[in-house]
Amino acid sequence: MSRRRPTEPSPTAAEAANLIRGRFKRPRLPAVEAFTASLPFDRRLYAHDIRGSIAHAQMLAKAGLLKPSEARAIVSGLNRIRAEIEAGEFRFAVADEDIHLAVERRLTELAGAPGRKLHTARSRNDQVALDFRLFLREEIDALRALLGGLRSALLGVAGDHVETVMPGYTHLQRAQPVTLAHHLLAYVAMFERDDERFAQARARADVMPLGAGALAGTTLPIDRAMVARELGFARIAENSIDAVSDRDFAVDFLAACALLAVHLSRMAEEIILWTSAEFGFAELPDEFSTGSSMMPQKKNPDLLELIRGKTGRVIGDLTALLIALKGLPLAYNSDLQEDKERVFDALDTLKPALDLLAQFWPRLGFKPPVMRAAAGGFALATDLAEYLVARGVAFREAHEAIGALVRETAAAGKALEDLTLDELRRYSAKFGPDALTTLDAGGSVAARALPGGPAPKTVRARIARLAAAPKPGRARKRSR
Ligand code: ARG
Repeated sequence: MSRRRPTEPSPTAAEAANLIRGRFKRPRLPAVEAFTASLPFDRRLYAHDIRGSIAHAQMLAKAGLLKPSEARAIVSGLNRIRAEIEAGEFRFAVADEDIHLAVERRLTELAGAPGRKLHTARSRNDQVALDFRLFLREEIDALRALLGGLRSALLGVAGDHVETVMPGYTHLQRAQPVTLAHHLLAYVAMFERDDERFAQARARADVMPLGAGALAGTTLPIDRAMVARELGFARIAENSIDAVSDRDFAVDFLAACALLAVHLSRMAEEIILWTSAEFGFAELPDEFSTGSSMMPQKKNPDLLELIRGKTGRVIGDLTALLIALKGLPLAYNSDLQEDKERVFDALDTLKPALDLLAQFWPRLGFKPPVMRAAAGGFALATDLAEYLVARGVAFREAHEAIGALVRETAAAGKALEDLTLDELRRYSAKFGPDALTTLDAGGSVAARALPGGPAPKTVRARIARLAAAPKPGRARKRSR
């Protein structure tokens, strides 16, 4: 057993070549080695690679393809490699191409001859598919937990603002009064669907590909179900060619990421608007704001702008993978190696964004009086029209009458709240004294107590239901 210490020089290409270059006379050009290697990024899969290899070795032993002593040597070598990597003592050499060969190369150093048996009945093609699925399953759980954190933060803020009346907008024009809580629950609804999509992506990743070999399986008597059980997979891939060609699960994941990023971007944009002087609905917390190099007064929402801006790259991650897959013949092609960085990038973008937004929301200082003042006025016109409808006026007739009322009141430089009953009655004889009480944003919101509406009592009940529901990322967790 060779016991090379990490301080010794990296293995040469020729040394690494021992593993898979039996049919070549000459080594690869270093530039080719560098261009084609995935080790610089796929080393992130080391723990999944080792876990998969341990399960594979145990299966090989059970199938009689390894002696128990060989399996033990392999497992202890793999555990040691994990420790070396985690201690920063592992020498990553680009000559190893990828994490799979890097681990296998080191295993042959540590375990000697038994190490050379680990790759029995396995190809890097099914190995990388396995590692990537193990990785994604775990990362989806982590992402869902962070999404759950943001959802909880929003529910908390919503709970404090069930009565905080603000204008709702269409076309970014004041439309009808709503509440801040109701507005925030719209994002919670988006995140609930995002979470469902991640759960579905997880289920698609939860399929065990090992045993597919390079593409066509193996003549050796392996036990795929045992490996699946060992690694906690819900099922095994049913077609060996598909098992090594399929990256649908990564596309599903990136599609869910792209849509989540779009939701975060819309949210970021609204906070940017609300915290502008023009809206003045909220004040950016210092801890989340940036200054200007020239203008001393500036308080910039850079974090939110970058959450909005980075949406482009997450959408790009999805389209890059789709384009890499388009037109690829079955089965494995090296183009598939491009899958990993796209997924890593989406994760590395979204995870901190979710975490930071969850911390941001409770610190955003709202100004309810400003919000409420913006919610009255002509935003109550629909309430006046509905007042008339409730008294038998056809909606189109009411719409026209109130339209004229708004036009003439605005032209006179007055607000709806300034009108007297006599003035209202010029537009419809159906207006009674109670019409004046209609002209209140809080009353308007409370009167829309329909299911899905903004009335405080409706929203309070909705928050209670949402808060009682199982947290995303915790629910339906079947496998490790
Ligand atoms: N580094 C490769 C990847 O990331 C692993 C599989 C390589 N297989 C091969 N035949 N080159 O996809």
